Order: sequence, then C-alpha cells, then structure tokens
Amino acid sequence: MSKLTPVLSAHWDERDSHTLAGYQRHGGYNAMKKALAMDPDAVIQMVKDSGLRGRGGAGFPTGNKWGFIPQGDNKDHYLVVNADESEPGTCKDTPLLMANPHVLVEGVIISSYAIRAKHAFIYIRGEVTHVTRRMLQAIEDAYKAGFLGKNILGKGFDLELTLHIGAGAYICGEETALLDSLEGFRGQPRLRPPFPAIAGLYARPTVVNNVESIASVPAIIDKGAEWFASLGTEKSKGFTLFSLSGHVNNPGQFEAPLGITLRELLELAGGVRTGHRLKFWTPGGSSTPIFTDAHLDTPLDYESVSAAGSMLGTKALQIFDETTCVLRAVLRWTEFYKHESCGKCTPCREGTWWLVQILRDLENGKGSEADLAKLLDICDNLLGRSFCALGDGAASPIMSSIMYFRDEYIAHLTNGGCPFDPVASTLFASSKAGA
Ligand SMILES: Cc1cc2nc3c(=O)[nH]c(=O)nc-3n(C[C@H](O)[C@H](O)[C@H](O)COP(=O)(O)O)c2cc1C
Ligand code: SF4
Repeated sequence: MSKLTPVLSAHWDERDSHTLAGYQRHGGYNAMKKALAMDPDAVIQMVKDSGLRGRGGAGFPTGNKWGFIPQGDNKDHYLVVNADESEPGTCKDTPLLMANPHVLVEGVIISSYAIRAKHAFIYIRGEVTHVTRRMLQAIEDAYKAGFLGKNILGKGFDLELTLHIGAGAYICGEETALLDSLEGFRGQPRLRPPFPAIAGLYARPTVVNNVESIASVPAIIDKGAEWFASLGTEKSKGFTLFSLSGHVNNPGQFEAPLGITLRELLELAGGVRTGHRLKFWTPGGSSTPIFTDAHLDTPLDYESVSAAGSMLGTKALQIFDETTCVLRAVLRWTEFYKHESCGKCTPCREGTWWLVQILRDLENGKGSEADLAKLLDICDNLLGRSFCALGDGAASPIMSSIMYFRDEYIAHLTNGGCPFDPVASTLFASSKAGA
C-alpha cells in the first residue's frame, strides 16, 4: 500500500491545476468561505489544534505563532509569506507554486483573516521568473473573482495581496532579513527581540510563514484539525512534501505523513541510482548535518531526526551514492555559504572564507591532518556564535562529514588529491609504483 498522502500535490498532474477553474473544480476556495464565517480566534485555535508546524525549516507551531499577534492593539497587522526558497537542495515551494498557486492565495486569505491583517505580502525569490508570472496571474484572477480586495464575499473583510520579487539572496530567506529587504533596505538579519510578532514589517505586528505552511491551512479548515492531527507522529503532525533529489531513479516531490523513513521514500522513488548504493544524504537541505546509510530507518519527523543528530529542516533529501566525493560536495556547499554570507557578523564573514580555503587545499591533497582540527575549530566558532542560522548551516555539513568520513578526508592527503578523481588517482598510483 502506498504511504503517500497527496493533498497539496493531489492534482498536479492535471493540465489546468494552476488555474482558478482547475482549483475550484476540486473544492478550491471552499475553505475560505468556511473560515470567513468563523470567528478569527476560532480559526487560530483550529490551526493550533491541528498541530501544524512551520515547514520553512525550524518547525515552530504555526497556530502558536499566530496567537502571539496582539489583538485589539489598533495597529496594522501584516502576513508575510516566505517564498525565497534558496537553500541548496530545497525545491518544494517552487513546484507547489507552479502547479497550484491558488492554494497559497486561499491560505493567505484565511491566515490574514485569522490574524486580522488587511495587507499580505509574498516575498518570492528573484530568479524564478516563471513562478512569479504564474503567481501574478493567480493573484489577478483571485482579485477578479472577488476573493481579494474590498469586502471579500460581502463579509466586511478587506485584504490586499502584494507579490514582492527579491533580488536573489539566500539571506533574504531569513525572516528578519526578508523584512528589511521588503522595506527597501539591504537584507540583513535584525536583532531579536523584538520579534516580528511584536515589531515586524514597518515595526508592526507581523507573521512570517513559509509557503507550504500557509498552503497547508485550507485543507485543515476544510477537513478539520483532527483529520490533520491524525496523520504523522505524536509531535510532528500532518503530511508534508519530501523532495528527493540527486542519485535516485525517480527524483521529485513525495507528499507523505511526517515520520516516514528514507528507506520507504526510496522504495517509492525507484531506489538509489541503479547499480549504486547510498553513501550519504541530507535530511533537510545543505544546512542540516548529513546522514549515512545507517540512518535509512530514522523516522523523518522533527524529534527523531534531531535525536539522531541532524534536523528535519526543509525535508530536502539529497541523495549521494558511493561515486560522490564527500569532501567535494561539502566544499561546494561551503562555497555557497561563503558567497551568501551577508557579512554582518565576524564568525560567519571570516569563518566561511577560511573554511573554503582549507577545504580547497584538502581537496587538492595539500595540508595536513591538523587542518581537520582547524576546520572543526572554525566550525566551533560559527555554531551557535553567529548572528543568524546561516552560520550554523555552514558548519553543519563540515562537522558531520568529518565525523562520518574522516578517513576520506585523510585519503585526499595520502593520495595527493581527490581519490575520486581518475587523473589524480592514476598519478597517485603511478608515483607509488615508481617509488
Ligand atoms: C539563511 C536562512 C535562510 C532561510 N530561508 C528560508 C526560505 O527560503 N524560506 C522559508 O520559508 N524559510 C527560510 N528560513 C527560515 C525563516 O527564517 C523562518 O523561520 C520561516 O520563514 C518561518 O516560517 P514557518 O514558521 O512557516 O516555517 C531561512 C532561515 C535562514 C537562517
Ligand atoms: S551568520 Fe552570516 S549571514 Fe547571518 S548575520 Fe552573520 S554574517 Fe550575516
């Protein structure tokens, strides 16, 4: 029996799934009608009861976050949807928005109503022009249908929805850097407190949620909190999108309850590349500590992944088989973090630069075993000591890969270069033969 639970992805294979007609054919916007007939606090309570946790990486309970917005404060409130999605390996929001942009629009309407926001923003990654076009069309169609704008469904609820196109910076996915960028400033993380719920966009109470979090709301309203909570595990409830990429026969999005294992997902995805075996993988994108084949049966829920030493993150499962050099993969990720470091704090600005230099040398067989200690020392200065989680993310793949594959790092030194590189290996072999 299939373990898949397609909800968000249920109709992605239909040609018009992205249109208003296609969405409404399957009950789209019915949840909005139901929610607007409820008291806003009852909507918040329903999302709390469902156990939905943020799908943007940290897994914070969504209903609780909404509950932090002060009510009756006579201030404007804002909802901001984080569609920046720039983490290496993370690729769920883009296909979701391409195939079903209206589920996000409907989620935005319900969520804004609940937190009493009259203006919502979607901050979308600058490079995904095709998704931007699709999103703009969906917003325009929702306005024409009377689902956005003044006096929605005659219920006296007004909502404007603005799509803001970012300039393509990973750091602008960090929620406070995103808010600065949205306000027109250079995107750099803000000091907290105050948290966005108290002083967010334009210093007003603001909820920032991931695309998938907000897109999950209509189904909760439609089918009920109990239905949602009946899926998943005790503390990680519901269904979610698992993105399998890399050395796997059928990569793609697999919507399944939290708690499924990689072994089960690989079965659904046709297994690791034929003729090869799993070497290492990321449970939640490049900023989460890597796992190995010893973790095939770890339940993919927040608690179990954390207990096993990593993080569920964005559920971006990047699969690498035995042909991959772990050092090279880690170097590529580290180059990304160095490039994307916003420069605000010293451990990350300086640390990521030095990490790249050392890893490059090691990849080319230069340096000594002491450099591994130096790498770990720099990581120690990043982890928990950087201003935002980008620094933690840069340290995680290095620390975990040295823990699991120390021998492979050393092999680069004894080999005089990458043992996976056929040229370097041949030179190594012939130099040894001649010695
Ligand atoms: C460097 C960095 C990049 C991030 N990028 C994203 C992103 O692209 N999308 C996202 O939803 N959250 C991203 N986050 C997490 C957000 O700061 C925030 O936790 C999230 O948007 C909250 O939404 P949620 O509660 O629905 O998960 C990022 C965090 C960091 C530190
Ligand atoms: S950790 Fe990196 S990205 Fe985050 S504030 Fe410091 S320099 Fe900027």
